[in-house]
Amino acid sequence: MSDLDRAAAALEAADKVVAITGAGISAESGVPTFRGSGGLWRRYRAEDLATPEAFERNPLLVWEWYWWRRTVIADAKPNPGHLALASFERRLPAFLLLTQNVDGLHAEAGSRQVIELHGNIWRARCTAECDRRVDQRHDPSADVTKLPRCSCGALLRPDVVWFGEGLDSRALDRATLAVQSCAVLLVIGTSAIVYPVAALPAMAKRHGAAVVEVNVAETPLTSHADIVLRGPSGVVLPELERRL
Ligand code: OAD
Repeated sequence: MSDLDRAAAALEAADKVVAITGAGISAESGVPTFRGSGGLWRRYRAEDLATPEAFERNPLLVWEWYWWRRTVIADAKPNPGHLALASFERRLPAFLLLTQNVDGLHAEAGSRQVIELHGNIWRARCTAECDRRVDQRHDPSADVTKLPRCSCGALLRPDVVWFGEGLDSRALDRATLAVQSCAVLLVIGTSAIVYPVAALPAMAKRHGAAVVEVNVAETPLTSHADIVLRGPSGVVLPELERRL
């Protein structure tokens, strides 16, 4: 039995499946990953662009970086990997998708049960107490030369999780509960080193789940995974879907 057949059999037998995705799933859509060749953290310093201190120091520089990333993401379309995951949701009895990506491509591909653990790049959020969320995706009047402000007057910031910040606790609780009760955990296109998400595969294993890794390269998770499917997720996931 090939590893793909074993993974398909595990998915078919599972009452509950959870998938965790990282930047690798969107690589074939043209969205750069963070680490590895061509990764954003090879060209930019996270400390200057993706921390609360960086935003306090230079909010315009941070906004400019997010505006640039939005232009890259605006041109990106879901790839066959995103589409296969949307199809898993329709075909498997219980399927939840946890993503570290902020690009919104899973929803665009048709996934409905998605928890965006690191936020969404198209949303902004008020930095003051009003805590208002603003969807800026379809805002043709958005001026990308001026700092955006909330209707309360305070600065808006990208509604994403930065280094040194906690994840939304309700989202993380839901994710944790799902991981603790799933039969199969798919871990796709993530370097599996950024916490707290990096702790979820070991948690799934402790609770009896089979862990299936899909990645083009080895990661710290590889030696602990029950099944390793080596290859681009845009190829591997459709192959898995065909076996269901
Ligand atoms: P990384 O850039 O760290 O890792 C991307 C992973 O995808 C690597 O393991 C690659 O080998 C793999 N990969 C690349 N192309 C692939 C493909 N076509 N198919 C399958 N795998 C592929 O991205 P993340 O793990 O998502 O957080 O990074 C986690 C977090 O660190 C991000 O959410 C972001 C980042 O800093 C914040 O900004 C808070």
